[in-house]
Amino acid sequence: MTAHVRIEGLHKSFGSKPALRGVDLAMRGGEVFALLGRNGAGKTTTVRILTTLLRPDSGQVFVAGHDVLRAPDRARSAIGVSGQYAAVDEKLTGFENLYLVARLYGMRRARAADRTRELLARFHLDTVMHNRAGSYSGGMRRRLDLAGALIAEPSLVVLDEPTTGLDPQSRQNTWALVRDLAGKGTTVLLTTQYLEEADQLADRIAVLEDGAVVAEGTADELKRMVGGERIELVLTEARDIPAAEQILAEIGDTVPHVDESARRLELRTESGQIALADVVARLNMRAIPVLDLGLRRATLDDVFLALTEEPAAKEVPA
Ligand SMILES: Nc1ncnc2c1ncn2[C@@H]1O[C@H](COP(=O)(O)OP(=O)(O)OP(=O)(O)O)[C@@H](O)[C@H]1O
Ligand SMILES: [Mg+2]
Repeated sequence: MTAHVRIEGLHKSFGSKPALRGVDLAMRGGEVFALLGRNGAGKTTTVRILTTLLRPDSGQVFVAGHDVLRAPDRARSAIGVSGQYAAVDEKLTGFENLYLVARLYGMRRARAADRTRELLARFHLDTVMHNRAGSYSGGMRRRLDLAGALIAEPSLVVLDEPTTGLDPQSRQNTWALVRDLAGKGTTVLLTTQYLEEADQLADRIAVLEDGAVVAEGTADELKRMVGGERIELVLTEARDIPAAEQILAEIGDTVPHVDESARRLELRTESGQIALADVVARLNMRAIPVLDLGLRRATLDDVFLALTEEPAAKEVPA
């Protein structure tokens, strides 16, 4: 694989506190890559290093063949970035904000104005382009910031939590934009805390936990890694929890997960339908009433929980 983006052995500490502890990542040209992790996992730190805004303590970063640490200026021309918090100048209009970015990228006046209008239309900001950005809603600011990342037609677009704080409609629009970009051959790296977003959008996902990549693959590969299916059971009566837990424990070779307050029990199983039938038979035998009972495939939520809560689950082979 000739990687469009290559990150190797990235270490970064803030004072004595390590934020990145040896991060390796590779992205193919034209793929959507999601960096998934909860608060403080190291997503923004990775993104800032990749986009030349922060220097690592050690490691190497290459984008489109440019050495990001040795030749940041050249690398920058290949990268468009939209930060975790929309960076727009409130005193300037939407048009002026984008035009300024275009000029900073060295475009001539006419070209800069054309490109600015084109992107304002694409992001549905053309009707408000002469209003000050200070009057824009959060979603509009976010869109303006995204538009800025695309000004110079970069081959890599980096989006740090692009949909955090967006309403469902704006989120869908952002997803459509990401798909569109990737369809045209742009590599997109996005960070997210939303499993669904990574699942829907990303060709490949890396799960970052405590400054290290703890798993990497397609959504399906990650789901297969935690394995099997889940039997989910919601009881009518809380007093039946111990009996139902015992039934699940007898059937599965893993320990059932119990959520007492929701009267919800869950068991991982490799023999889905057969195990489910067995559960039903045993529940009936003891006349335990059930509110909800079903079988489902592993979700990215299961992957995430397995990786970030039970260290032992990391040993499960793919
Ligand atoms: N400038 C800084 N100074 C000190 N510590 C920092 C700095 N930037 C990040 N950190 C620390 O490094 C760790 C990783 O932070 P980072 O911002 O990369 O996480 P994140 O995955 O982007 O989290 P979030 O989802 O909250 O945006 C955290 O413990 C954070 O407190
Ligand atoms: Mg962050």
